[in-house]
Amino acid sequence: MDQKEMDQIREEIKCFQAKTSNDLEFFRIKFLGKKKGILTFLFKKLKEIPHENRKNIGKIINELKKNVQDKILHFQKINLIENKKTLKFDPTIPGKSLEIGSLHPISIVKNRILDIFKMIGFSYVEGPEIENDWHNFTALNIPVDHPSREMQDTFFLCKNPEILLRTHTSSVQIRYMKKHKPPFRVLSIGKVYRNETISSHSNFMFHQAEGFYIDKKVSFLDLKKIIQYLINSLFGKSVKIRFRPSYFPFTEPSAEVDIYRDDKTGWLEVMGCGMIDPQVLKNVHINSEIYSGFAFGMGIERLALLIYQIDDIRICFENDIRFLKQFQNDF
Ligand code: DAH
Repeated sequence: MDQKEMDQIREEIKCFQAKTSNDLEFFRIKFLGKKKGILTFLFKKLKEIPHENRKNIGKIINELKKNVQDKILHFQKINLIENKKTLKFDPTIPGKSLEIGSLHPISIVKNRILDIFKMIGFSYVEGPEIENDWHNFTALNIPVDHPSREMQDTFFLCKNPEILLRTHTSSVQIRYMKKHKPPFRVLSIGKVYRNETISSHSNFMFHQAEGFYIDKKVSFLDLKKIIQYLINSLFGKSVKIRFRPSYFPFTEPSAEVDIYRDDKTGWLEVMGCGMIDPQVLKNVHINSEIYSGFAFGMGIERLALLIYQIDDIRICFENDIRFLKQFQNDF
């Protein structure tokens, strides 16, 4: 490594011009690369140089290293300026338009039901989707061998028959009544899991709305008035409705509510309801001699299909933009 070689290296660094960032990286590796860099190599060799020359030569290599670094900085700066120039604002480029989203029909119907009940003083609560047997069945008068468990094809979790995905939102009644003292009027909406035929197809999950009202002297007449108010708010004043006697283990008497759409479709079942069975009140330590109440439950999908005249429930879960876009003006 003589003076001539050093001068050559100095000259090469001085004359270097980078056109692209690749050139610059190539240059850096050539001189300072960890494995094969020329200056790195010279630094390593420094140990072998006799003591009296080492300091001088070391100084020269350090200078060369500084030259390389300055060169790199210089071209990096130029590059930045060039980039900035090309990023200049161009007012002729059309702006990016924001896509307007829309609420899912299930959410729209859910919000409408919430609003309808807010108007008459109902508060809103939610319950867990993973439930235990007691809240979902036993406390609602559905003991282990009751046939209505059969109807609610249940998803059990972890092979443990105690823990399950709630089959209906009626479990929220139990959770709420256990913790609060009457009077109260409450609405809850959420997902439930069971095999259920909605429209011409079945589904393993759907949404339910559950309402309940407990006070002194609540009667079946109050229940009828509230259901009438709900159906009229959803389907208009002229829709015909009927209460058909039915059976639910947690209400007595119980009824199903049908609405009359048109002569072709006839009567359609939209919800179940009834006066809360005194035994259910006892299960949650509410005195059934003083208090009475009613409850009702309905499937949101069924209502959405009727309101929007959708005939196949599966389309609600396919996330097809062409379907969802049709609800842009509803909220
Ligand atoms: N839990 C019932 C079901 O899923 C619906 C229902 C019926 C809820 C009557 C109620 C009720 O609160 O009173 O089929």
